[in-house]
Amino acid sequence: MHRKLGCLFSSRRRILTMAPQLETREATGTEGVVARGLIKRFGKFTALNGLDLTIAPGTVHGVLGPNGAGKTTLVRALSTLLRLDAGSAFVAGHDITSEAGKVRRAIGLTGQYASVDDHLSGFQNLYLIGRLLDMSRKRARARAYELLEWLDLMQSAHRVARTYSGGMRRRLDLAAGMVGRPQVLFLDEPSTGLDPRTRNELWDEIRDIAASGTAVLLTTQYMEEAEKLAQALTVMKHGSVVVVGTLDMLKAQLGGQSMVIQPVSYSELITLHRYLIASKVVEVRVDLDQCLLSVPVKGDEQMSAVIRVIASAGFSVHSIESRAPTLDEVFLTLTSEYGEPLGKVAGSNGHRPKEKGGLAS
Ligand SMILES: Nc1ncnc2c1ncn2[C@@H]1O[C@H](COP(=O)(O)OP(=O)(O)O)[C@@H](O)[C@H]1O
Ligand SMILES: [Mg+2]
Repeated sequence: MHRKLGCLFSSRRRILTMAPQLETREATGTEGVVARGLIKRFGKFTALNGLDLTIAPGTVHGVLGPNGAGKTTLVRALSTLLRLDAGSAFVAGHDITSEAGKVRRAIGLTGQYASVDDHLSGFQNLYLIGRLLDMSRKRARARAYELLEWLDLMQSAHRVARTYSGGMRRRLDLAAGMVGRPQVLFLDEPSTGLDPRTRNELWDEIRDIAASGTAVLLTTQYMEEAEKLAQALTVMKHGSVVVVGTLDMLKAQLGGQSMVIQPVSYSELITLHRYLIASKVVEVRVDLDQCLLSVPVKGDEQMSAVIRVIASAGFSVHSIESRAPTLDEVFLTLTSEYGEPLGKVAGSNGHRPKEKGGLAS
């Protein structure tokens, strides 16, 4: 059941990829998700472009990507709501094409947009799903109340869903995906519309769900959510995988370090910002509120080079610290239009001088 995942660095695209060692053939007997070469076109537009994904049972796999990356298309394809143009996938051990019915019985799905029936009450929505899943009346009723209680919807259990607030609808939608205690749970941006307290409770629940053996695919735009929940991450852009790995791998192998530089004054901040950009350091981010610059660097050599430039040009700084990059920094760099990971020297934003003599190692 446990899969070995190998990591390799592709020199051609200079991106980190994981080479799943699991053959699709072996995957048919597993409970998670194994998808290979998924392609989905809408007319001439390619929404999924040869995407691979592996999710082990009992883990949360975060799928990150900017709007339009193809996250919802991926979820719809794996949950059999959308027919693929090419590729194959096994979900809970069943082929999504030839065994769509079995897949549907084994999964839970919480869509990006609430998919509850407006004309039914919260209770009726959940009860109906339970009955559709072949539960007895008693079992379906008990499960519906269990979920309503869990998501703090008991007081509104018998009100029609169209009178629910946005947050209440999201919670009901989540409950709808959970009725059957699914083997594989698809959560497409589940936190949208939730207040911080409900979001935290949701995170606890997602952890519990995974701990009980369910494979969870979680799409999100909240880095914090991915950081808190996901054991593995896939970052997508334009329907393709940019990078797969654990959070630590992403940070360590792509992020290097981030230098945080605090100049002595605001004007010094602006001048140093311009100077570093002209010096061809890969990325320089300026935080005007805190009067800080952050500079992702590959390693000690590049860090020393930055310090030398600052010193030799006579800039005055209060402090220079180094820290691990935040997942936000990693994510932004990975999904930026430059398309290169942190640490790769850019010079492609149109503002940087082309002549040599920069800092980059
Ligand atoms: N039914 C559809 N017809 C045409 N284009 C679509 C359809 N569904 C999605 N797309 C396009 O596919 C791309 C990926 O969409 P989506 O999967 O919703 O991205 P995400 O969930 O990452 O924001 C977008 O450019 C979107 O406009
Ligand atoms: Mg989406």
